[in-house]
Amino acid sequence: MDNFDFCNPVRVVFGKGMIARLSTLIPVSERVLLLYGGGSIRKNGVYDQVVNALQGHRVVEFGGVEANPHYETCMQAVELVRKEKLTFILAVGGGSVVDAAKFIAASVCFEGDPWAILSEGKAIEQALPIGAVITLAATGSEMNHRAVITRVSSGEKLNFASPKVYPQFAVLDPEVTYSLPLRQVANGVVDSFIHVIEQYLTYPVNAKVQDAFSEVLMTVIVEEGRKVLKDSNNYDIRANLMWAATNALNGWIGQGVPQDWSSHRIGYAMTAQFGLDHAQTLAVILPGVMTYMQKEKAEKIMRLGEVVFDITEGEPRERVLKSIEACESFFREMGIQTRLSDYGIRESDLDSLVSQVKQMDWHLGEHANIDDKVARDILMLRL
Ligand code: NZQ
Ligand code: ZN
Repeated sequence: MDNFDFCNPVRVVFGKGMIARLSTLIPVSERVLLLYGGGSIRKNGVYDQVVNALQGHRVVEFGGVEANPHYETCMQAVELVRKEKLTFILAVGGGSVVDAAKFIAASVCFEGDPWAILSEGKAIEQALPIGAVITLAATGSEMNHRAVITRVSSGEKLNFASPKVYPQFAVLDPEVTYSLPLRQVANGVVDSFIHVIEQYLTYPVNAKVQDAFSEVLMTVIVEEGRKVLKDSNNYDIRANLMWAATNALNGWIGQGVPQDWSSHRIGYAMTAQFGLDHAQTLAVILPGVMTYMQKEKAEKIMRLGEVVFDITEGEPRERVLKSIEACESFFREMGIQTRLSDYGIRESDLDSLVSQVKQMDWHLGEHANIDDKVARDILMLRL
């Protein structure tokens, strides 16, 4: 296990009716930006719960954050924060709204063009405090220090991370996820499953706590994921999925172990250029990464197959292939297509899809051996 130094400062407030706690979670002295997405919170009662809880606060609203939030929209919110001299950002929505809140919080305090935070990895010295009411269990953004932003004008999707943008608190009420369209429920299941995989499926370093915790998370996500599509208003299923998604990407399982975020990074361009949902990109690419890297990852792939999908028979290579197939079948079972052709993407699109990997000179994977050429070969396996 590698050395690590880890502090996750996010206060988690979990359960039914917990949105009411906002009244005390945010000091009344704060001037609050209430940030939200395309309007789902106005239909499912979450907006009313938030506004009721914040009756004693000064609140200014900014709605319209897109799924895969746009840099351009975030900059409009930055202007509003500066104009109204707001001091706190409350994100109410899915990962996109929380990510936008993080970028806005950092941008308000940033000198120069904040795009440099994403494109050049410029350090963030200061950020406004933020809080999150999460309405979609998927990204873990409510309890981590990462955000992903898309610049529409250039078709780029990039991420940044800074300890300055950890939310002060995250309110997780599983009941607010009942109103999600099933496609988003499935996206959340697959995204959180693959977050675990990206931190687990490398090579063994005898990190028993991280491995066992990851295996439990994957097992829970697969079991509850299979149930949720049929029994979608079941509180226990929603609660387990929500807490699993938060734990999948709040830093715990990734400490002291090698990681491989190649499916995520290669997938960014697929969303920016072809409009696929984030989880759809992962469901396409991950089986390709596993197949291409099957020798390097063999030991962990077999263990994943055994623990999560009960694959115990056959020669090692056969078990590896069966395990890869089991992951892909699970994504399909969740209703997510797994081939580029399912989304109308052809071989002639691949150069454009890997151009961001080339331009940013990314060397991805636990061995840093996935450059744009290898990324293209991986995508060729997914046509
Ligand atoms: O915009 P509204 O109207 O709120 O609707 C949203 C949106 O259309 C809707 N929705 C959310 N909660 C709902 C609901 N509809 C009904 N009832 C509810 N309770 O769902 C749609 C998708 O929302 P979005 O926030 O985009 O989804 P998600 O949480 O999957 O976030 C995706 C974004 O997070 C980034 C992705 O790249 C993508 O941009 N990621 C962020 C990460 C992080 N910060 O650590 C890691 C992830 O790997 C991921 O990359
Ligand atoms: Zn993800």
